[in-house]
Amino acid sequence: MKKLVIGTIAAAMMATAGLAADYVMKVSHVVSDSTPKGKAAIFLEKRIEELTAGKIDVQVFPNSQLYGDGEEMKALVMDNVQLIMPSLSKFTSIAPEMQLFDLPFLFRDKAHLYNVMDGEVGNILKSKIDAKKQMIALDYWDAGFKHFSTNAKPIVLPEDAAGHKYRIQSSKVLEAQFKAIGGNPQVLPFSEVYSALQQGVVDGTENPLSNFYTKKFNEVQTSLTLSSHGYLGYLVVMSDRFWKKLPADLQAKVSQAMKEATAFEREESAVEDAKIMESLRAYAKDTNKLEIIELTADQKAQWKKVMATVYPKFYDVIGEDLIQKAIDAK
Ligand code: LMR
Repeated sequence: MKKLVIGTIAAAMMATAGLAADYVMKVSHVVSDSTPKGKAAIFLEKRIEELTAGKIDVQVFPNSQLYGDGEEMKALVMDNVQLIMPSLSKFTSIAPEMQLFDLPFLFRDKAHLYNVMDGEVGNILKSKIDAKKQMIALDYWDAGFKHFSTNAKPIVLPEDAAGHKYRIQSSKVLEAQFKAIGGNPQVLPFSEVYSALQQGVVDGTENPLSNFYTKKFNEVQTSLTLSSHGYLGYLVVMSDRFWKKLPADLQAKVSQAMKEATAFEREESAVEDAKIMESLRAYAKDTNKLEIIELTADQKAQWKKVMATVYPKFYDVIGEDLIQKAIDAK
């Protein structure tokens, strides 16, 4: 705590004295400041500035303000932005193996998920990113399990999705997932999802609760099915050029801040999921405009059966061994 105070004072003194920071670290993401990722980005900003006594000036740009999907990776490689945390699905073109995380019903629960992320499988996947030598893979962050939502027929069984259009992130696994249930998947940047749902460009989508609620998708969807059928997480990546510019002592401080931010982010994600569920139930009750659907064990089994057909299609891309390692992770 003492160190924290000294760091804060030093950063404030530098700012008052008009001393420019030695480094500027721009952080860009596409979600709201009030999501777990958004809050953790702000946490990281404060912590890096404290720990480096203002030598690194961190500037966070949420809500696709600086770069949207499809732009942020290129900007990072050019070192126009220094830190981003895209969803794992958005690494498809750099490391297609990362689509492992998109496989439906792969994770039994959060404990299993973290064992995969923080264990051998997660490290193998990070090394695929590092191998490209364009960015440094730091930590995995969490958004939570995804749920279906729609304006068309409420989704209870897989066949309910047939013939309808769904917004997806840029992942072939997600495309195959919606095709397996007879849906028409359409890749759209996150910043366009609200208007696409509102204007009927697509009928539905899939989101963790934090993204669904903070972007007010509940206002433009008539039903939400608590399917937990897939997962959305992030990989925090830093510009390789920026990392190499930092002296070793500042690299160590950034790593420390990152470690703390990861613990904070994951904790937030767990807490927010429960809070948002309550808010959505209250919204549904008060407005009568959103039907929240729970699936029975039998209905879930039917989903799992259909979704299992997606796996073999990606044995070559992701690696059958890697998928098995993830399933076997305790
Ligand atoms: C999405 O595009 O749905 C998500 O990747 C947005 C995010 O960053 O959580």
